[in-house]
Amino acid sequence: MKHTERIVILDFGGQTTQLIARRLREHGVYCEILPFNAKIEDIATQETRGVVMSGGPASVHAEGAPFPDPKLYDLGLPILGICYGMQLIGKHFGTPVVKGRSGEFGPAQVEYSESGHLLDGISLPMQVWMNHGDHLEEVRAPLRLMGRSAHGLVAAVCNLDTNAYGVQFNPEATHTPQGSALLRNFAFNICSCEGGWSMESFIEQAVADIRNSVGKQKVLCALSGGLDSAVTAMLLNRAIPGQVLCFYVDTGLGRLGEREQIVETFREHGHIELEVVDAQTKFYSELKGITEPELKRKTIGRLFIEVFQEEAARHKEVDFLAQGTLYPDVIESVSVKGPSATIKSHHNVGGLPDTLHLKLIEPLRELFKDEARNLGVLLGLPRAITHRHPFPGPGLAVRVLGEVTKERCDILRKADAIFMQELRDANWYEQTRQAFAVLLPVKSVGVMGDERTYESVCVLRAVNTDDFMTADFTRLPYELLGRSASRIINEVRGINRVAYDISTKPPATVEWE
Ligand code: XMP
Repeated sequence: MKHTERIVILDFGGQTTQLIARRLREHGVYCEILPFNAKIEDIATQETRGVVMSGGPASVHAEGAPFPDPKLYDLGLPILGICYGMQLIGKHFGTPVVKGRSGEFGPAQVEYSESGHLLDGISLPMQVWMNHGDHLEEVRAPLRLMGRSAHGLVAAVCNLDTNAYGVQFNPEATHTPQGSALLRNFAFNICSCEGGWSMESFIEQAVADIRNSVGKQKVLCALSGGLDSAVTAMLLNRAIPGQVLCFYVDTGLGRLGEREQIVETFREHGHIELEVVDAQTKFYSELKGITEPELKRKTIGRLFIEVFQEEAARHKEVDFLAQGTLYPDVIESVSVKGPSATIKSHHNVGGLPDTLHLKLIEPLRELFKDEARNLGVLLGLPRAITHRHPFPGPGLAVRVLGEVTKERCDILRKADAIFMQELRDANWYEQTRQAFAVLLPVKSVGVMGDERTYESVCVLRAVNTDDFMTADFTRLPYELLGRSASRIINEVRGINRVAYDISTKPPATVEWE
């Protein structure tokens, strides 16, 4: 997609690099994250108005520390260095970066002596979030000291001749309440951005792009019931109505009533007739006897591909396959973070075989999740889809621990539906980011009436999280938990005990498998 302006964010491996991009976009400024060692010609394109260098875990003195191409400083583009990014600016312009004796971690107050328009409208002292070991000392020309933290350490510097700024804290963090305003100042006051990025403008451009690349050809679009694929389908349908073939694979691993709900939603809100591929038998029979979580995921990934291949073979008239890939998936494939150990193989990211012979179309690949959600609202999707909790690609298979059978999926579906209904009725559904029930392969003894029971244990889980990299359990009211547990035990045959999962991520994960 063509953009008239953008800010480039160089990723030095900081935990919050994506947040910088999200904050800028919230101000209507389009920005892109590139790896720290991006080529100068990829950074200094015609539409680039400025560069942000993110934080990162390294020390500028460490062997192998990441540095940008030094020509970056000669481009005449404004630069904002954040944390490690500021230390890079210090080192480049000859101000010593020293190993701190203690560093600053957590909340701090910053007083400023110079603003350079970065701080227009910001009240002082500024409450900020610090997270650094090294720091700058004895600021030397051409850098100028802009502010110090209450601990007396250099908190911000600038080089007004080259428009380079550095802040030692994280303006993107929610714990820096005026940080978003600072980023806005950088974009508008210093980079002279105009800020035309909005989901309305995105729709216009995306529709034109889709028409351009698809022409009169046809697109196959698989719906999962989740937000990303739903928005993709709606956008395609807006751009090329009559050329999109949508299908939904019923794996038998979906939530209660999911299939019917999706078909209805698309008929009603998108005027799209969905083809339902009933693959329940295939999934249940292939999953028979499998208890090992990774093998389950791999099997489901393989089955999805097989079903896709069969669908593609049935629709010979189709040239494109649409996917709801979002920006975070695209960035992760270029980030500085080295290969990390596979904790869970997320099968629905980038795993389609070349043998499909279909061209891939990914109209959301520049969007963050919250942008995709706003887009969905604009395209007319109901709140039941746009504000639905995320649901993993392998579905209930990773929540039915042990062997996945239709019978156990049915038990879990009923329990999960009760929990969701209780959350909604108590107004808690949208106050937690994700909630679900899990069925354990463990039986416990209970008593119902005068009868001894020996049945499965169900676990309820609800989490609060910003980005799903870390998560805390939601402090749901006991009354709500109590009501859910009592209804599940009374209404769902096969469960006689309910527990609430109070683990955080890390060390646990959100899903149980
Ligand atoms: P974990 O369990 O890794 O989950 O802490 C983090 C988030 O990712 C979701 N999840 C998946 N999503 N395909 C998906 O699309 C998958 O294979 C998958 N596995 C986990 C999980 O529901 C949570 O929101």
